[in-house]
Amino acid sequence: MKVKILLLSAAMGGSQLVFAAPPPVDPAMLELADQSRCLVCHDVEVKVRGPAWRDVAKRYRGKPEVEEVLVEKVYKGGGGVWGDDYMSSNKRAGMDNIRILVKWILTLPES
Ligand code: HEC
Repeated sequence: MKVKILLLSAAMGGSQLVFAAPPPVDPAMLELADQSRCLVCHDVEVKVRGPAWRDVAKRYRGKPEVEEVLVEKVYKGGGGVWGDDYMSSNKRAGMDNIRILVKWILTLPES
């Protein structure tokens, strides 16, 4: 009986978390973003120096043609879209990793 009650409260706590928290984020992608030094300036949920990645996904939803433009921009650096700040070049992350990250960022659902 005790066990059942414990399980029930764990399940309730769990479901509360699921409803309150934003949609889960692939930890492997966060790891790659961390290794690529993106997280110095970015977060999925909130603006840091760069825009929140969920906002980036929202802005370009339904515009798959921007993918390559964004890959180039992240690689070379650039500004003028989200405010006065400028994204420095991320060449060290490598084009392949940047492409994987941009594809993933563009699929992030709204929270
Ligand atoms: C030095 C800080 C910094 C780093 C490091 C950085 N960014 Fe950015 N990022 C920015 C800023 C600032 C902007 C907004 C630029 C603008 O307004 O056009 C931005 C914008 C973006 C955008 C949207 C571009 C647009 O035109 O809408 C994407 C996508 C992005 N960053 C991805 C990445 C990825 C992936 C990495 C890691 C490989 C990364 N950023 C690393 C600062 C950074």
